[in-house]
Amino acid sequence: MTAEHIRKEFLDFFKKKKHEIVVSASLIPADPTALFTSAGMQQFIPYLSGDVEPPYQRACSVQKCFRTSDIDEVGDEFHHTYFEMLGNWSFGDYFKKEAIAWSLELLIDVYNLPKDRLWVTVFIGEKGIAKDKEAIEIWQKNGLIKERIKEFGMKANFWGPVGSTGPCGPCSEIHYDQGKKFQKKDCTINNCGPNCGCGRFVEIWNLVFMQYDKTGENQYEKLPANNVDTGAGLERLTSIIQGKTSNYETDLFLTLIEKIKSLSDAKEAEKNIKTVRIIADHIRGACFLIADGVLTAKEDRGYVLRRIIRRAMRYARILNASPELLVSLAGTVVDHYKNIYPELDQQRNDILTVIQKEEERFRKTLNEGLKKFKKLVRLTIDKKDKELDSKMVFQLYDTYGFPLELTKEMAEEENLKVDEQAFEKEFARHREISRAGVKKKFGGVGEWKEKVAAQHSATHLMHQALREVLGEHVQQAGSDLTPERLRFDFTHPDKLTEQEVKKVETIVNRQIKNELSVTVKEMPYEEAIAAGALAFFKEKYPKVVKMYSMGDYSREVCAGPHVKNTREIINFKIIKEQASGAGVRRIKAVVGK
Ligand code: ALA
Repeated sequence: MTAEHIRKEFLDFFKKKKHEIVVSASLIPADPTALFTSAGMQQFIPYLSGDVEPPYQRACSVQKCFRTSDIDEVGDEFHHTYFEMLGNWSFGDYFKKEAIAWSLELLIDVYNLPKDRLWVTVFIGEKGIAKDKEAIEIWQKNGLIKERIKEFGMKANFWGPVGSTGPCGPCSEIHYDQGKKFQKKDCTINNCGPNCGCGRFVEIWNLVFMQYDKTGENQYEKLPANNVDTGAGLERLTSIIQGKTSNYETDLFLTLIEKIKSLSDAKEAEKNIKTVRIIADHIRGACFLIADGVLTAKEDRGYVLRRIIRRAMRYARILNASPELLVSLAGTVVDHYKNIYPELDQQRNDILTVIQKEEERFRKTLNEGLKKFKKLVRLTIDKKDKELDSKMVFQLYDTYGFPLELTKEMAEEENLKVDEQAFEKEFARHREISRAGVKKKFGGVGEWKEKVAAQHSATHLMHQALREVLGEHVQQAGSDLTPERLRFDFTHPDKLTEQEVKKVETIVNRQIKNELSVTVKEMPYEEAIAAGALAFFKEKYPKVVKMYSMGDYSREVCAGPHVKNTREIINFKIIKEQASGAGVRRIKAVVGK
């Protein structure tokens, strides 16, 4: 069964069970406090939390997801940065009984997986939340023998929330037993099972029973309704259904991997299969991020994009790949996915340009790094040392983007060594520092959320003001919020004059002073457009949308959050106006006191 077929069977199956098929949301989540869409449920959070009345009781989707949490594992058999998540949801409708029975029906009757290979995990009970006895009973009623039902704590079997508060609940994971030959030597059958980590068992589907709203540290309240949220990684499921030993051997990756091999030194590619896979993963992720409007940058989403492009580039050097490898692979990704995700084809030019430009930029740093490396070698030899200084090795990795493997290889050519353990230590130390930095940067979640709402509402006012001052051709081309500033990209051919900038600023501040109340209404997309709401990325909206109005001044289709009254923005100031690609301008502005 091809991956395309697996996607289709999934949606058909749940459609027959009366689920609404919902299109994938953008990788840039509607909730600006989240970096990326990393789970299928994200676009449904307002329904799961009970804040918004859902327009349907059951939904299913194939969602584009991006996670950086697994980046160090990418290149093994089953991890990725970008992946697709198949999911089905119940918003206060069906619960554990149906969710469990249907998951087995689909896996066994439609995907033809042998039932005796399926194991499940359930929540053991922790932190005042009871053991999920109900799930255990239902799994047993559905024919899962007791020995294949394993109990785990919060870490493995309690999912969510996304961020620090919100809907969450105990979960049951379905694991697939690939058989004894996948078991590592030091793992005996007695201790082997789901989550043992030896590679024999692969998690293929997570069924979350969303019953709780996390309101604070160790504080869980019952949600107004019992919901179901499930997620199955398409890549893993495809690998299991196709009987492969790795996601990278499925038809989702075949052409890409072949292309990398054909544009690289064949011997190196054969020797470095992990490197080949990392390049495949990263280029695929980069294409999808760019298609959804991410551009390379020094911070936030743009920084993640930059990192994966550079990482792919560095690895391409290990394979002695031809210089046009990445751009050429990007074309392959677009062609492979364009029928399912038309935005890739629509943004083909942007995708190729962003990747090419980033390569050009990094080539410069790479050369500086090489100089640094040569100096380090000289220093080491002069000191009659045999090992490179690990702080410097880390600097090469961190500042100049050298993978450890590359530094090691180059060191070997000079008869020198790299202390990998010391490097790992340095790596861990810096990760701690940067984690602390991230925490400091974003401050308390509540404060950050308030700021985001003010920036977000100011963005709507500015959007309307720009159309008033410059003309109706102005359309949103991107938006990004950090605690320091808001950023808004829009279509307009020329640099704004000082006067125009001032005018926009004055209009926004006038609307802040006018104390417009901000209201939200759910309605069909067409109705919002008929009411004059601004909405771009048309194909990405669900059928029923939220329309935010600020007095009579601004109307926009949007997922929020926003302030309740424009006076909460306090003040609006444009700090920069610049170009951002052909025909696109960028404004950075600040709000508040
Ligand atoms: N939201 C759940 C997950 O991401 C299904 O695993």
